[in-house]
Amino acid sequence: METKTRVLKEVSSISEMKAISQSFRKQNLTIGLVPTMGCLHEGHLNLVKKSLKTCDRTVVSIFVNPTQFGPNEDLDTYPRQLQSDIEKLEEVGVNILFHPSKKEMYPKDYKTYIQVQDITEHLCGNSRPNLFKGVSTVVLKLFNIVQPHNAYFGEKDWQQLAVIEALVEDLNLDVVLKRVPIVREADGLAMSSRNRYLSPQERQTALSLSRSLQEARDKIRQGTTSAKTISDSIRQGLSGIEGLEIDYISICDPKDFKKKEQICDRTLIALAVKVGPSRLIDNCIIEEI
Ligand code: PAJ
Repeated sequence: METKTRVLKEVSSISEMKAISQSFRKQNLTIGLVPTMGCLHEGHLNLVKKSLKTCDRTVVSIFVNPTQFGPNEDLDTYPRQLQSDIEKLEEVGVNILFHPSKKEMYPKDYKTYIQVQDITEHLCGNSRPNLFKGVSTVVLKLFNIVQPHNAYFGEKDWQQLAVIEALVEDLNLDVVLKRVPIVREADGLAMSSRNRYLSPQERQTALSLSRSLQEARDKIRQGTTSAKTISDSIRQGLSGIEGLEIDYISICDPKDFKKKEQICDRTLIALAVKVGPSRLIDNCIIEEI
């Protein structure tokens, strides 16, 4: 593998990004892309490190994508901290930061959207109707602009990954998706940019998410196979907690997200709750039992 340059280049124009990627490809350099909305934490940096390990050039995109937020969601207040993100990316040795403006990505009269069907009708797609249309659209645009060989996504957003997998397969895209496991804080809380909204009290409340997944896992290990029993006990545990509002508790197939009655083969347990100003998600996979 070619030696890596350790200077972060910032690019905000699509045509410049395309030209750089074309030149990398001409030199036979492999390109890894890590799409993000910024406010980077160890979960993001873990994806970046995976790319740095296997690709000659790593591009990280930071773009708070307006099309994936609903009208009453947190687009305006979504945490933005470009300067400290740049320092983190420099530190790990990323080559390119692509951070286009909203106007660059969605000029006036923008018209084209991508809609992955069926699997987007469950879980987060139910409560955030614009989410996956916006995610699919921006991810396809990023793939076309950056032309990566590999693209890295976290299992924290399990359904998002499934949607992007469908997009890549159905539209015959030449990009290899790399799945990366959830990175957690020492106490179990799944890392998220939205954790920054939480007060110390709310952060304590948010911990109930990973705790209830762990309890569910223990019950299943001890022999419970009824999805309803597990789901009821998660609901019971969460509904008594002040300041927490349940969005969904889903025990489902990890590929098509259809509800399961029995937990006997590979199963996804996915949770979404609102704690104070933040909507938080977490999940775990129960392997075949
Ligand atoms: P964002 O929430 O910034 O996440 C960027 C990537 O980091 C996603 O692939 C997400 O799954 C991953 N990630 C976040 N927290 C993680 C954690 N604790 N452990 C492992 N991976 C984690 O997801 C988005 O942005 C956007 O929807 C995007 C794909 C960039 C499209 O706009």
